[in-house]
Amino acid sequence: MDEVTKHDNKKDCWIVIKSNVYDITEFLKVHPGGSSIVLTIAGQDATEYFDELHKPEILEEVGKDYIIGELDELDELDELVAKL
Ligand code: HEM
Repeated sequence: MDEVTKHDNKKDCWIVIKSNVYDITEFLKVHPGGSSIVLTIAGQDATEYFDELHKPEILEEVGKDYIIGELDELDELDELVAKL
């Protein structure tokens, strides 16, 4: 997650959704919801925003092309604990 936070701008934009890391720098230009709203969450975990605004299948159909990795297990554990 420390690495993700370094990629927080429109020229280099990573987000996390459900423990996967997405590099959406190129996708920003064509995102139907625009780039500015996504940039407010750049370099962070965007799972809640994503779930509120999209149908789940969008992640599979559009998102999967942009996955570059996943959070390490300790970060995943932190996320679970934070939800308790
Ligand atoms: C991998 C990441 C993302 C993908 C693949 C993605 C994809 C899409 C797609 C395909 C749509 C059109 C949906 C439709 O017409 O039914 C959309 C709309 C939208 N997205 Fe995203 N999105 C992503 C991340 C985000 C994030 C992080 C935010 C907010 C912080 C966001 C905000 C929105 C908004 C506001 C809309 C417009 C919703 C509407 O018009 O009803 N998206 N996105």
